Order: sequence, then structure tokens, then C-alpha cells
Amino acid sequence: MTDNTDTAAGKFRPRYTGLIERYRNYLPIADNARVISLGEGNTPLIKLNNIPRVHGLDVDWYVKYEGLNPTASFKDRGMTVAVTQAVDEGSQAIICASTGNTSASAAAYAARAGIRAFVLIPDGKIAMGKLAQAMMHGAIVIQIKGNFDKGLALVREVADEVPVKIVNSINPYRLQGQKTIAFEIVEELGRAPDYHCLPVGNAGNITAHWIGYSEYAGVTDATAACTHCDGQCPYADKALISQRPKMLGYQASGAAPFIRGAMVDSPETVATAIRIGHPQSWDYAWSASRESGGWFDEFSDEEILKTQLMLAEQEGIFCEPASAVSVAGALRDLQNGKIPAGSTIVCTLTGHGLKDPDTAIRQSSADVVTVEAELSQVKQAITKSL
Ligand code: F0G
Repeated sequence: MTDNTDTAAGKFRPRYTGLIERYRNYLPIADNARVISLGEGNTPLIKLNNIPRVHGLDVDWYVKYEGLNPTASFKDRGMTVAVTQAVDEGSQAIICASTGNTSASAAAYAARAGIRAFVLIPDGKIAMGKLAQAMMHGAIVIQIKGNFDKGLALVREVADEVPVKIVNSINPYRLQGQKTIAFEIVEELGRAPDYHCLPVGNAGNITAHWIGYSEYAGVTDATAACTHCDGQCPYADKALISQRPKMLGYQASGAAPFIRGAMVDSPETVATAIRIGHPQSWDYAWSASRESGGWFDEFSDEEILKTQLMLAEQEGIFCEPASAVSVAGALRDLQNGKIPAGSTIVCTLTGHGLKDPDTAIRQSSADVVTVEAELSQVKQAITKSL
């Protein structure tokens, strides 16, 4: 644990320079590769205080606030590794299909690397903050009249014909970077949580979490998605934990292939980040769920938005709608007893609430009053609500 008084006493910490430097021994990046980093990772693990109290729940409940990454989502963990590798291989351009966050992250890391980014997004179906990011970082934005699944199919096809490197999570380096979230959680808790809850869209992230926990446990399950593991976990004799969490994957009802048990052709949800019907990491995600003894569940848009607001109002934590699914899931499963009292839970809050201000303002219950710029009126507005 870092003791803040150390700094006051004149002892300084080395500058944090991102997760490739930090987890080099666990990542398949060449020692002499030029590292493309924006200082991603090292996000806060925040203990929920008010929500458990209000609901009378006996639980050790944390959120991993991935919205505090450089481009405000967990994608940066994967992008630093994927772009570092792409540049090391000589790529001059990267490409992705995206519901928004991947495009923002790809655009930023491409800018950092000095290469070109092409992003395919579903026309009119990505949050404004994400579009602004992709545009500001100089990506070539291609809006398609189709959803994410169609976009990814096109990306696969076009990458066969033009020299661009795919940086969607079908690129295994993405999952390698994203697995580091599990490392950070284990290091801070001194163990793995009993349950890990997260939203599932294309299903890369649940796969990456499971790889991370498995590597810190020194076991080989689920490492089929691993690029530097040949059926034998290279970290078997370095195991830090003996127990891995049950992985709980939550989806929006309108985009819930894991609950339907089949692909969904026209996914629809207010949580546009997870508006995905044909998840690419389908088999890996099922392995993670089964091997861990976890489960999948679904939530209506109304429940998702209610939970987003609850986190913002009761804990001061602003996440985007898709991220709130993880907390909605944990809360429901605590209340129905599927997660027993006394458990340690971590929910991944995958993206920042500022990504999607339109949805936030539309559903906020905040009382915005307009008054004359006069003391009496301002005073009246305040005393009315005291
Ligand atoms: N939460 C957020 C905020 C996301 O942006 C995504 C995926 C997910 C959860 C789901 O993660 O796909 O690994 O299961 N966003 C991708 C994108 C698809 O294009 O930004 P997953």
C-alpha cells in the first residue's frame, strides 16, 4: 500500500508510465519495441459505501473505475498493447469497428504513435463524446448504415485487401492488455474477489479478465485466447492466488445473445456500447463463465438507467449506461441470494458517464432552475431546497 506521508517525508514514487512497463513480464511485447502509452491502467478500485447500506447488504463491494483511463474507457488497456505491437510489426494504419469506445481509443493511440486510424461506426448510434474523441484525434470516421456486427464483418473483409491492422478484440494483443485489470484488482485486494461482475458486448473483456485471473492463479484454463501460452501456463510456478472469482456477465435485454443462447440479429438498447448481437468471443466467454461457475443475466434499459443514476447520486460515481449493468447485476443477485452475504465483489465500470451526456441529461432528475442574477432569487432557490 502507498503511504501518502512518504511523499511529505521526501520519498518519491517513480512516475507511472502505463501498463506495458508495469506488466512487461506478463505481456507478449518485444523488449526493444517502442511503447505507445498514455499512462493507461492503474485505475481506482473504489469501495461502495452507500448502496450496500441503503439496501441493507452485508458485502465487501468494489467498483473498478475504468472510466478514469486516458480516453475514459477500459479499451486503452488493450489498445496500448495492440498499437505497440502493430507499430513494432511496421503497420502504418489501424482499423476497427466500434460502438464508440474502441474508436476513441484507437484514434488516440494512433495519434500518439503517429499512424492513421480508420474507424467504422454505426450511423447515429454512438454516444456524442465518443464521436468527438475519434474526430479530435484525427481518425478517418466511416459511418455505416448498419450495426456494429456488420461493421466488424466489413473490417475483417477490408483488412484482407488493404494494409490496415485490425485492433478490435479479435486481435489477441487487445485481450493481453485488458487482462491487466485482474492483476491490479488482485494486487489491491490481496486476493481475487469471490464474484466479478461486468457488462458483456463483444465478449472480449470477460475473456480478458478470465485470462488475467487464470494467469495470477497459474492455471491454464481459458488460455486458449492467450498468445504466449501453449497449453501450459508460463506463470504456473508464480501463482499469487489460489482461488479465481465466479465471472458474472450481464447484458441489455435487447442485445442479450448469451441469455438467448443464440446470436441476435437486430440488437437494440440505450446502452449503445453493448448494442451487439454477434459477439466474437462467444466460445471464450462461455468457457470463462463455465470454468468459473458463473452465469449470465439480462437487464431492461430502464433498470440500466436507474442503476446509472443510483451510482451517480448515491456514490458520486458517473459511469456510462453499459457499465451500470454490472452493478445492476450484482445488486439483483445479492438481493435474490445468488451471491451470498459476506461476499467480496468487484464490478467493472467500463466507461465514463461523460461519454454520453445526452442520455445522462435526458434521464437526470436534477432540478435545474433559471433565475435572475440577483441575490434574492438565488437565495430563494437555495432555501427552497435546504
Ligand atoms: N462497456 C463499454 C463501455 C464498452 O464500450 C464495451 C464495448 C463493453 C462494455 C463490452 O465489452 O465488447 O469486450 O464485451 N465496446 C466496444 C466498442 C464494442 O466498440 O467500443 P466487450
